Amino acid sequence: MIGRTVAKSGFTVRRNSENWSGAWGPPMSNVKVKTLKLFQKVNHFPGALQLSRKDCLWRNMKKMIDQFGRSEFNFTPATFVLPEDSRRLRKIFETHGGVWIAKPPAGSSGNGIHVVSKWCEIPKRCPLVVQRYISRPRLIQGVKFDMRLYALITSVHPLLVYVYSEGLVRFATSKYIRDVEHLYDRYMHLTNTSVNKTSPRFRPNDSLDKRKGNMWSLNSLWSYLASRQQADIPKLWERVKDIVIKTIISAEAKIVETSDSTLPSKYNAYQLLGFDIILDDDLNPWLLEVNNQPSMDPDTPLCSIVKGQLAKDFLNIVGFQIPDTIPAEDARYLMEKYKQSPLCLDNRLHEITLTETEKGKQDRFVNGKNRADYLRNILDTLTPDDVRHLIRYEDEATQLGGFEKIFPTRTTYDYHKFFDKPRYYNRLLDAWEEMYASDKTRGILRLQKLCEKKYHLPGSFAALDTPRDI
Ligand SMILES: Nc1ncnc2c1ncn2[C@@H]1O[C@H](COP(=O)(O)OP(=O)(O)O)[C@@H](O)[C@H]1O
Ligand SMILES: [Mg+2]
Repeated sequence: MIGRTVAKSGFTVRRNSENWSGAWGPPMSNVKVKTLKLFQKVNHFPGALQLSRKDCLWRNMKKMIDQFGRSEFNFTPATFVLPEDSRRLRKIFETHGGVWIAKPPAGSSGNGIHVVSKWCEIPKRCPLVVQRYISRPRLIQGVKFDMRLYALITSVHPLLVYVYSEGLVRFATSKYIRDVEHLYDRYMHLTNTSVNKTSPRFRPNDSLDKRKGNMWSLNSLWSYLASRQQADIPKLWERVKDIVIKTIISAEAKIVETSDSTLPSKYNAYQLLGFDIILDDDLNPWLLEVNNQPSMDPDTPLCSIVKGQLAKDFLNIVGFQIPDTIPAEDARYLMEKYKQSPLCLDNRLHEITLTETEKGKQDRFVNGKNRADYLRNILDTLTPDDVRHLIRYEDEATQLGGFEKIFPTRTTYDYHKFFDKPRYYNRLLDAWEEMYASDKTRGILRLQKLCEKKYHLPGSFAALDTPRDI
């Protein structure tokens, strides 16, 4: 889907190329990331394995549970990482038993997964993640399902998170039976499409609105649950967004640290994530795992529809600019064709080196204890670097498509306490939302006026006297 979408928008898709401007693939080594050119963008933040490796995800979650309590982070089933947690887990097996699901820490597509109820069924020699099995899932027509939701991170500092309003609901191909005799049946317990499409009972779906076959659109599920099972969907959606934000924040410090030490520019990376979430019989959402490269394969006609829209929308928000290295005659041709000037990426917009004054402002505002301290003054005098961050933020908001911005918003300040430490740009955007969320035009006008004076470009710091509020 990525290749098709990119080609449709006029880019050329190549397997190997020196001067590529966007790449879709597995994470690169940190050494390679350091050599990215300023006009290149990859689909992974260095360090994002902290979310997608099942053992790292759990360790990060455990840290949050220990610090903030289970009530704030009650959406991950209890998990053990073997071999280090072997003893504790064995004790639990001996005292409580129960049904568990064992997964390879870095696996995908259901590979190597077993549902077990006895200690002897757990492979002992290889690293493994063993998770409490949600054994009373919500069923539809007697069949288990889970949801694949998509979240997009366009920046980690500031943290900018979007969630896609459409998604996929993946059904198992055997009716669910709650009995340990049937734990071996992968078609009953796993909902991965890659597993179930090998079943002779697998039926694809070809429509966003039809509730048929082994895959539905997320919005079909919402309308089914609302109309047939009296579910409060707005409330459920809020809980899902809460899961996405908290999960990402749990790994934020490590991702920022790795990204800061490897990425040459803030332009270089974004991250699309696939969240696997299951509903239990009481309609509580549970996070099963996070995928750092969610499948974009058009497995079924419904997949093509949802993933095609998704690809278009996330590539638009992320925004690919034309490298400034293209031959002059190509640049002229494109300029005439698209009637845009200047056309190519201006690296000054992504400059990350700060002036002494900018550093001074950041130190002052990141150290304050209270929100009121920075809310009052952080926007009084915007620096060129502040303006660059704010224009990128507002630019993205014009390209949402089916995405909803979930962090930051005017009401997300409460999440700041979950961060490892306060960060300047998160505070800047919090204050920006507080001041302008109800009247974005006023904020954008303020930025426009500054940009007209080229205030946002590095080197123009002389004109610091920004009026308090234009
Ligand atoms: N804790 C759990 N309780 C119930 N079902 C689960 C649980 N964990 C995983 N599953 C089922 O197994 C499938 C695969 O697990 P997942 O963690 O997503 O690994 P993979 O990376 O192989 O997709 C899920 O889509 C879901 O159907
Ligand atoms: Mg999965």
